[in-house]
Amino acid sequence: MIPDAPSSGYTVWFTGLSGAGKTTVSRLVAAELARSGVHVEVLDGDVVRTHLSKGLGFSKEDRDTNIERIGWVASRLARAGTAVVVAAISPYEASRRRARELTEAFAPFLEVHVRASVEECARRDPKGLYARALAGELADFTGVSAPYEEPLTPELMLDTELDEPEASAGRVIKMLGARGLFR
Ligand code: ADX
Repeated sequence: MIPDAPSSGYTVWFTGLSGAGKTTVSRLVAAELARSGVHVEVLDGDVVRTHLSKGLGFSKEDRDTNIERIGWVASRLARAGTAVVVAAISPYEASRRRARELTEAFAPFLEVHVRASVEECARRDPKGLYARALAGELADFTGVSAPYEEPLTPELMLDTELDEPEASAGRVIKMLGARGLFR
């Protein structure tokens, strides 16, 4: 049993549609933290799904399992003093709340909604997935044929239709500073 020692770790959880900019902004934030000597780890849905969540699909049940796993790992890393940056669609409010509870047993949890409309994400379509989903070739696609439950009270909302990635990352860093989590 590891004692509940004071930890300087935390979880910054980026949620939003595919193509909204979660990966881009989270990488910029992680790089800025690392440059300042912070011990940081990134858990990106696309990457986690090639390892820890390999084999899971996109049904509600599989997504809940994916988010539970990411939330659990994030909470353990945060407990050990790591600044954890998560980027995952995490479309369901209940599983985001569960992830929050796992981390908050040990350390702060900051939910960041990376917002862009479905129309804008479909226009960007970096992986060609929206085109396939809109053509009916991809089932359970978030924002098209599967729901995205918008966060009601995120710690921060980023609008990537208005702001460049660098400005969005700067807002996250500023929020961490305001909360005493970054100097
Ligand atoms: S989550 O819903 O379980 O949080 P996660 O962030 O891990 O999703 O993975 C999302 C990524 O999987 C997307 O960025 C996209 O590249 C890919 N993907 C493949 N199929 C789907 C789908 N049906 N819905 C959403 N994303 C999908």
